Amino acid sequence: MAASSVLLDGIGLLVTGSSDYGDGSPLGEVEDAAIVVDQGRVAWVGPAAAAPPVDVREDASGRCVLPGFVDSHSHLVFAGDRAAEFDARMAGRAYQSGGIRTTVTATRAASDEVLAANVARLVTEMRRQGTTTVEIKSGYGLTVRDEVRSLVLARQHTDETTFLGAHVVPKEFADDVAGYVELLTGDMLDACVPHSRWVDVFCERGAFDADAARTVLTAGMARGLRPRVHANQLGPGPGVALACELGAASADHCTYLTDADVDALASSGTVATLLPGVEFSTRSPYPEARRLLEAGAVVAIATDCNPGSCFTSSMPFCIALAVREMRMTPAEAVWSATVGGAVALRRADVGRLVPGARADLMVLDAPSYVHLAYRPGVPLVATVWHEGKPSPW
Ligand code: NIG
Ligand code: FE
Repeated sequence: MAASSVLLDGIGLLVTGSSDYGDGSPLGEVEDAAIVVDQGRVAWVGPAAAAPPVDVREDASGRCVLPGFVDSHSHLVFAGDRAAEFDARMAGRAYQSGGIRTTVTATRAASDEVLAANVARLVTEMRRQGTTTVEIKSGYGLTVRDEVRSLVLARQHTDETTFLGAHVVPKEFADDVAGYVELLTGDMLDACVPHSRWVDVFCERGAFDADAARTVLTAGMARGLRPRVHANQLGPGPGVALACELGAASADHCTYLTDADVDALASSGTVATLLPGVEFSTRSPYPEARRLLEAGAVVAIATDCNPGSCFTSSMPFCIALAVREMRMTPAEAVWSATVGGAVALRRADVGRLVPGARADLMVLDAPSYVHLAYRPGVPLVATVWHEGKPSPW
């Protein structure tokens, strides 16, 4: 092994995220394991007894090590909060997409410094809870200037940036949706393409219908952006079918699905990304994860961290919800929060601890990943390594 290699051994239980490494299960479990990290990448994984000789050694003291979480859906660029809206919801009011405009007003009025500090704080919050890859969307600017600055700020933290100018129709275009779609697919897209990898649309009653969503997504695709869709969150609708038809990497929310939607997800490469923090925070029925899994769909779990429908940055919390409320097993939920998220972002280099992958991992203050759901709300993430470097806390 190279002189720069580090051996992390004494791992009581290692999750590799690959059936090729470990016990043959999708989660790839190895007991009494070790990992060798070199130049920010995984160089070797396996039983500690078989580890190659390496000069620098760290001891996990029997704890569980798993891949860093891949949070494939978040909206971190915004100002203000909507605690009052949450409070009213908990007293019985329903969630409405129109609340997005409240955050748009606050975001437009905020300085670059305030927005940058907010994103940095939330990314740090995520990192402390084990997230090492995050996707960040624009969507609270909805002008050319404010969408661009949202994406530029997001890019300071991740390559996984998503142009979501089609989040809601801003109030200055309330009577001219066609005019806003023209702006979205014209000047705004031109300005945002250099700062984005993905294009997303909130395809829902109260936001964008199937025709407008298709127009925006195909315009983005023609400019080299890859599609993902906010679909079927507040009721049944055309979002999932559109996502599958366009070959989107992911259809997100999937709360209200017809049999045809489930079939489309199962027979396409489109990942069903479930965001159970949203159902928790809007007191809505949870998506039917079992139905999707049993049909053979690929399921990811993400936070959707945003000030309106779900203000959590915690993947462990979402895993606990997925297990308790969506009847996923802890192994399924952890897979969906790591490998599933990576598939939803079409990334082969994250979400798994296999040779060649990025050395993004966490050490849990627990003997097993099961504790992520078994001990909800407890800060179990002891250490996070990002590209082979341990976090400073
Ligand atoms: O994913 N559904 C659309 N967008 C966000 C909510 C945004 C908001 O309410 O501010 C979501 O849930
Ligand atoms: Fe969202």
